[in-house]
Amino acid sequence: MAKIIGLGKYVPEKVLTNFDLEKIVDTSDEWITTRTGIKERHIAHKGVGASHLAYEASKIAFKRAGLHAGDIDLIIVATITPDTSFPSTACYLQSLLKANKAACFDVSAACAGFVYALTTGWQFIKSGLYKNVLVVGSEVLSTITDWSDRSTCVLFGDGAGAAVLTKSNKDNFLSAYLGGDGNEAELLIVPGGGSRHPASEETVKNKLHFIKMRGNELFRIAVRVMVKAAKSALAKAELGIEDVDLLIPHQANDRIISAVAERLNLPREKVYVNITRYGNMSSASSAVALCEAYEEGKIKKDSVVVLDAFGGGLVWGSIVIKWG
Ligand SMILES: CC(C)(COP(=O)(O)OP(=O)(O)OC[C@H]1O[C@@H](n2cnc3c(N)ncnc32)[C@H](O)[C@@H]1OP(=O)(O)O)[C@@H](O)C(=O)NCCC(=O)NCCS
Repeated sequence: MAKIIGLGKYVPEKVLTNFDLEKIVDTSDEWITTRTGIKERHIAHKGVGASHLAYEASKIAFKRAGLHAGDIDLIIVATITPDTSFPSTACYLQSLLKANKAACFDVSAACAGFVYALTTGWQFIKSGLYKNVLVVGSEVLSTITDWSDRSTCVLFGDGAGAAVLTKSNKDNFLSAYLGGDGNEAELLIVPGGGSRHPASEETVKNKLHFIKMRGNELFRIAVRVMVKAAKSALAKAELGIEDVDLLIPHQANDRIISAVAERLNLPREKVYVNITRYGNMSSASSAVALCEAYEEGKIKKDSVVVLDAFGGGLVWGSIVIKWG
């Protein structure tokens, strides 16, 4: 059985507003705000890797957890923007933290990455293999964003969120539901740089190292599967929607969040939204939102919190946590 004992978040200092984007591509603050809910996002400086953002978030989480890096048995980093293809970002993070006894690996589940990683960390503790696990969602999406494509570049931002999990007498994790559909991989993809299309002059010329997205199709699927994931996870926990104190949905588009909340019959005040300030930070979105909701006092002892995410893969997932 496991519980979360510390949360942390970090976003780079540099802020890119919608007005800044007006100078880069043919867009407007009005379009971005009404279509997505985003006003600004944070962008890392050149050379900053996912592990650096993860490190800053993890230090805060450790402090709040009252643990030292040396106490950590396992580090799981969810990211689609790893420092390098390999070694894993978790290994770089282990080195930065000096978490010398920790096992390390990354999880690739795009915007559902933190939900997948948190579920994995919980299971490692539940199985009895490990006592203390660090789970991080960290992204430098600005490095895979095509800054000449207005249909995607307005959406994404950089950041990291971390959670420290430890063994406990009572399980704070009530249930999880994870799903996927690899048939729809092309809807949201970075086509180049992997074994199918290794980096070449051709892949660079064709901009295959950047995010390609079919937004309209994704929008409809996102709403459907996020509703399904939250309902399925709640059913597994033998809870109803009326038991939910706070839904923390993936922050891809405020209109998706509203549609999900409406279909779940959840009032807006029970739905956490911070997309306005950060945009979509993929796996970091859920991690940062969970941390901020806690910092803002929206999560208290015994609060029932539902994380609900969706991303490229396609993948989706939901976790139900009773805060302890
Ligand atoms: C991407 C998204 C915001 C686009 O919003 P939309 O309302 O579907 O807009 P459309 O793609 O239909 O585009 C409408 C028009 O706006 C234009 N447009 C697109 N991006 C624009 C921008 N940044 N600024 C101004 N106009 C833009 C399009 O070219 C199109 O113009 P046209 O009608 O002349 O062809 C929306 O589809 C979305 O959020 N999808 C889900 C994305 C998602 O979830 N991704 C991540 C999953 S983790």
